[in-house]
Amino acid sequence: MEVLVTIPLPDDLMASIEGQHRVTIATSTFPVSSEELRALIRGKHGLLCTITDAVDRALLKEADELMVVANYGVGYDNIDVASCTSKGILVTNTPDVLTDATADLTMALILAVARRLIEGDQMVREGRFGSWKPFGFLGTEVCGKTLGIVGLGRIGKAVARRARGFSMTVLYYKRNRIPGPEEERLGVIYRDLKDLLRESDFVSLHVPLTDQTYHMIGPVELEAMKEGAFLVNTSRGAVVAEQALVEALKSGSIAGAALDVYEHEPRVHPELISMKNTVLLPHLGSATSETRRKMAERAVANLLEALGNKRPRDCLNWDAVKGLYT
Ligand code: DGY
Repeated sequence: MEVLVTIPLPDDLMASIEGQHRVTIATSTFPVSSEELRALIRGKHGLLCTITDAVDRALLKEADELMVVANYGVGYDNIDVASCTSKGILVTNTPDVLTDATADLTMALILAVARRLIEGDQMVREGRFGSWKPFGFLGTEVCGKTLGIVGLGRIGKAVARRARGFSMTVLYYKRNRIPGPEEERLGVIYRDLKDLLRESDFVSLHVPLTDQTYHMIGPVELEAMKEGAFLVNTSRGAVVAEQALVEALKSGSIAGAALDVYEHEPRVHPELISMKNTVLLPHLGSATSETRRKMAERAVANLLEALGNKRPRDCLNWDAVKGLYT
């Protein structure tokens, strides 16, 4: 069958696809442009793509042979899953394998923004480290504070486990509250969103981007946050209304923000860049060699399973599409 791959893959994984199928690699630019994607998708049965590739109606119009979209990434807001389903196209993602890397990065961001790590690093590099000072470079204590986790899925739970190591009280908000015994095991306490925002010293976002979560944290929610609190986002930028965040940081209604993702990625709001109380990373939550390798393995396995008429392990729309596969 014909396969289109839009990311550079490790040689052995690419060889495992090439051993069974004819592969076209779209790597003239990264990310591949939507025009190139539209031109290359024609006649393809499988697409291995990533979170920067829009698999939308315009693309699907050109994709009459397509059987599977294997996304390299857990988030799949780049894919119009409903349209794929209506065309009988399976969609897969790469859950689990990036949970720990993303949770680790969340803790790194909490520590970095609270303890002013980036400012300190800059000061040393610029030769401005005059002397240790009794009341210089004061940050905010993390240990013993309250962390509010919005979205207690795989990554949210992994953050909760880490936060307990910092003796934090962990609140969570989720559309469907988890069972009591699991709350106890994880050491998390349920709050509705308003109360979580009001009580937390750190608010960390772990929801997928959907129509329901778009701008979930806007002016009202930022205003509801505790004075001196910090916002941390490793999920998707558009969960936060970025302009409202800028205003909240400018007015001092919250103390700082640590962001790995942006509303108009890769563009970052210029005012966020000029602020001292922000930590800004280039969407690297899952960026460890170990994790990115595992993501590639899962994406390739999902692709090959679907093309081999088997149920892929990480299928998002199997129930709706499976009739075509049995
Ligand atoms: C994802 O997988 O959705 C991350 O944002 C990138 O690894």
